[in-house]
Amino acid sequence: MRDYEPYYTEDGSIGLYSYADKDVFHSKYGALTEAWEKFVIPSELESINKKEIKVLDICYGIGYNTKALMSFFIEKNKIRKKNLIEKFFIKLLHIVSKHTYKIFKIKKLLSYSIDSLDDNKKLLIDCLEINEELVNLSPFFKTIKTPQEYYSYFVPEIFNSFDSYYKLRDLFVNIASRYSPKNRQEIKDLLNLKFQKMHIDKEYKIHPFVNYYLINALYELYGENFPDENIKENLIKGKNRRFFDKSLIKYALFNQKYGYNKSSKYDLSTFLHNIYYDYLSRRYKKIDFRATQELIKLNFYINDARKSILALDKEYDCIFLDAFTYNKAPQLWSVEFIAELYKRISPTGLLLTYSNSVQIRNTLLENKFYVGKIYNKKLNKFIGTVASKDKSKIKYPLSTYEIGLCNTKAGIPYHDPNLSFDKKDILELREYEFKHSDLMSSSRYIKIRGNNNG
Ligand SMILES: C[S@@+](CC[C@H](N)C(=O)[O-])C[C@H]1O[C@@H](n2cnc3c(N)ncnc32)[C@H](O)[C@@H]1O
Repeated sequence: MRDYEPYYTEDGSIGLYSYADKDVFHSKYGALTEAWEKFVIPSELESINKKEIKVLDICYGIGYNTKALMSFFIEKNKIRKKNLIEKFFIKLLHIVSKHTYKIFKIKKLLSYSIDSLDDNKKLLIDCLEINEELVNLSPFFKTIKTPQEYYSYFVPEIFNSFDSYYKLRDLFVNIASRYSPKNRQEIKDLLNLKFQKMHIDKEYKIHPFVNYYLINALYELYGENFPDENIKENLIKGKNRRFFDKSLIKYALFNQKYGYNKSSKYDLSTFLHNIYYDYLSRRYKKIDFRATQELIKLNFYINDARKSILALDKEYDCIFLDAFTYNKAPQLWSVEFIAELYKRISPTGLLLTYSNSVQIRNTLLENKFYVGKIYNKKLNKFIGTVASKDKSKIKYPLSTYEIGLCNTKAGIPYHDPNLSFDKKDILELREYEFKHSDLMSSSRYIKIRGNNNG
């Protein structure tokens, strides 16, 4: 039996279920959409006026939050700008690349193009994850071509050539029901369902460079061991093919075979190799890709986040906390762990999490954070929690009713002295405190104050 079960979430991106953790990694609603709506958009990174923006992604998993953030960063920085000068260099590059003896010129031109992007901000992301296999697999997970995407891109085009969507749907139903006449209605329902599920927004996609960039970052980290045999085996298994991106697998294998640090002579032939034609075929893409690499730095820390955090001494502008729910992974929601985050967040930084729990909000309050809610305009509801040392950064603060709720028994936080308790001990410690607490129960509080969710 495999350790994880992949599934399509409603936006077409792939989610994972972990048998060991008995939990899903991504919400049914949409792994990619969630990354954008709960982490990237509320992070407001575009308003940070620093030369280098530092982000901490706790519980990297298969990297949706980091990938979405990189996409956002690439688009915002307009790395893909194609001005006339650049076009001229590309043309030149195209000509000289045919002559090996002019390699030094190509390099000069490439570095010129990168230098011209010096005005852009840089982005550093420290990614913490306990499971190495997930990190290594993360770039390969398909984030663009999913069945839903095929529907949303190609089907409307076909529809245009027919008069209406319904004509085509009925045509499908007729053809299908010829083979299975009894199931006509079911086929119709199934098609209706498929056509409705097209709601991933264009801007929520992942930039095509991101996964290549991740592969290169991991390749630098692991050298020849990436992708190792286990991962390779996993990636090329026939039944996994619809979840893993075939072209990225080829790219990684190619990188591994020919080495990342090629001699300059080899560089050129690599440059012109078929595989590059597949993905980074046009020269400007190659230039942009390199420029992106100059601007984004990724570090992976593969260990229990409680240990990794102690070794980090940076000040982060933004922290993503995407651990499993608090009763499944109490280690990453304790007062003591959050205190370590408090020490490492900048005076105006934001800590973001999908959790709306009273207990988690109280843990943040106990650490002297200002706490608020993440508002989603499209859904017109609160979809997570945001915390900061700076009160003015909190757009939707907790109401007095919600703060009152945090002071009930439901808000009693987890403790993990020395950041070394195991899950069972942390849960038991809280259980004990809960039983012996004089605080009002949340149900009584709600009864007295009414169910006013502020
Ligand atoms: C909800 S999933 C995160 C999903 C992820 N953000 C993504 O985009 O795919 C939780 C992740 O936490 C990791 N994890 C669990 N306990 C951890 C720990 N103590 N330290 C670091 N990571 C941990 C799991 O391996 C899992 O990948």
